[in-house]
Amino acid sequence: MGAGRRVTRPIWLLIAVVVFTAIAMTVVVFVQQPLRYPFAGAQGLLALAFWTALTLVASASPVKLPRGSAVSVSSTPILAVAFLGGPAAAAFVAAIGTIDAREARGEVPWYGTLYNHAVLVVSAVAAALLFEALGGARLWNEPIESLAAGLVAGVAYIVVDELLSGAATALREGRRFMSVLRTEFVAFGLALLGLVPLAWLMAFAYEPLGPMVALVFALPLYTTRAAYQSVVELRRMFTQTIRALASAIDARDPSTKRHSEHVSGIAVEIGQEMGVSEADLEILEWGGLFHDIGKIGISDAVLLKPGRLDREERIEMNRHPVKGAEILANADRLRQVVPLVRYHHEWYNGSGYPDRLIGEEIPLLARILAVADAFEAMTAVRPYQTRPKSLEQAIEELRRCAGTQFDPRVVDAFVRTRTAHGLGEIAADPTRDLRPSDPTIRLPQGTAPGTAR
Ligand SMILES: [Fe+2]
Repeated sequence: MGAGRRVTRPIWLLIAVVVFTAIAMTVVVFVQQPLRYPFAGAQGLLALAFWTALTLVASASPVKLPRGSAVSVSSTPILAVAFLGGPAAAAFVAAIGTIDAREARGEVPWYGTLYNHAVLVVSAVAAALLFEALGGARLWNEPIESLAAGLVAGVAYIVVDELLSGAATALREGRRFMSVLRTEFVAFGLALLGLVPLAWLMAFAYEPLGPMVALVFALPLYTTRAAYQSVVELRRMFTQTIRALASAIDARDPSTKRHSEHVSGIAVEIGQEMGVSEADLEILEWGGLFHDIGKIGISDAVLLKPGRLDREERIEMNRHPVKGAEILANADRLRQVVPLVRYHHEWYNGSGYPDRLIGEEIPLLARILAVADAFEAMTAVRPYQTRPKSLEQAIEELRRCAGTQFDPRVVDAFVRTRTAHGLGEIAADPTRDLRPSDPTIRLPQGTAPGTAR
């Protein structure tokens, strides 16, 4: 659980239940089956210290993922301990060995730290108990059966971990549980699954090798972490490149400074409120940045004209979604962004452009982008709009146009976002009036309609 934005009662309840379960499980397993070989006695303390240190190293530098979560390879030594020493040792290492750099620096709130560790303890104890129940603890006598038990227990570990982490993410971000689960599992679950046999092998090799296992297994764990890191970095680099390109488009018209960036951020917020998948959030992010790329082909005389556009000029301006879609059509990686660019000026009632799609014919992500685009445009100073709308006026306008221009469900979701509450990045823009419920500010009505050009 990362830095939460608001801790609601269901979140406190979840934290309480999981932390209580973790403590209860730990007490019961310690009472019922004390630490056993190789963790029993004075020698065992050394072994416990070794595995805890190994887990600490694996947890030390988690790979930061977009939107606040992080992933590390610490599940491998935790599972190895579960296989090797049973539930009591697993509970200890999962609780103590997983303190990471973000927690040490105080970047995670205390209840988040508590919850994360409790989740790992519950997952580790569940996996260890299952491993024992399946007879996997006869590690060296029956390696094949033991490996099979290890795989089942490893899957249980990942499932419990994903369920509990997913529940917290869903509650914290107000997203649908199943959607969170699907994206989290695709993002980490599958990769973690590959580490389960490695964990079993680590436990198996501990008997002959002792602490030398750290040396033998450091390399595969390190390369796994490096692979995570490079995937994340590649995506970050790609998004940064897109961002640079988007700001180049916005720079042609000084009045639309940072427009694309803001639209991108708002679209992602709406997507999160609507529970779209992580992959779709990324498409929204890119779609927001690229939606007006077709304006590259619009002449300065039209693009920068301060007054209203005449018929010819309007026709030229309205070509930008199609031009944009054509520009992006050649980029394989951006294929899914093309419909967002093409359809961001379609209206819910079918009177938009370029294809006059109606209702659900317009892809959901394009309907989301349309609301984000309109809100950004309404609240910004433009040549054709010297008095931008206030937060309340803009929301009122979106509501008024729900069902005609916009999908009402998308407008409802927008109203729940941080931006609609006068928070977030766009609210910090000094040229806008996005403070909520400020009765002293009354701008005259009759500014441009709620449409971005
Ligand atoms: Fe546009």
